[in-house]
Amino acid sequence: MGDVWRIRGVEHPSPLLEGAVELRYRVLHEPFGVARDDDWNDGDPSSSHVVATVEDEVVGYARVIADPSARSAQVRQVAVRREWERRGIGTALMGAALRRAIELGMTHVWLNARLTAVPFYEKLGFRVTSAVFRSPRTYLPHVRMDRAL
Ligand SMILES: CC(C)(COP(=O)(O)OP(=O)(O)OC[C@H]1O[C@@H](n2cnc3c(N)ncnc32)[C@H](O)[C@@H]1OP(=O)(O)O)[C@@H](O)C(=O)NCCC(=O)NCCS
Repeated sequence: MGDVWRIRGVEHPSPLLEGAVELRYRVLHEPFGVARDDDWNDGDPSSSHVVATVEDEVVGYARVIADPSARSAQVRQVAVRREWERRGIGTALMGAALRRAIELGMTHVWLNARLTAVPFYEKLGFRVTSAVFRSPRTYLPHVRMDRAL
């Protein structure tokens, strides 16, 4: 059987975005003790949301936050459900996120990567541009990474 997942942009509010909020919590936050009710400001008009779905279940997510004044976008909260890792879903989510940033006129993209995800982003053309720091929510070590579009 071939891959049965697909990538799509989703609106706020929508049932698929609710699925993405649950996925983000399960993959990115719950294992590190971050509260479920943190406000992630999903309705922020500068944000675009991309999901990977399998039969309307959300198995992956990425968010693009555009800053038109700097023509720079941040990618945040990239997450793939553990059972669906290493099948190309993260790469496809990032591809859609970068296309969205280009559509919005951005020329640059950056993100804060967990150290464990650095090889994934390096394969996508990002380069480390900061020293290691700990994120305020999870306390996990991160680095900033940047890429031109
Ligand atoms: C990081 C993450 C988004 C990658 O998603 P994915 O769907 O598994 O990624 P892909 O299948 O597209 O992987 C593409 C390539 O990235 C690299 N890669 C992915 N995960 C990796 C890992 N854990 N270690 C080393 N390289 C990795 C590999 O080169 C991989 O290619 P390969 O499978 O042919 O070797 C996913 O593992 C995840 O959600 N992790 C937990 C949350 C997280 O860390 N999110 C990022 C926060 S900054």
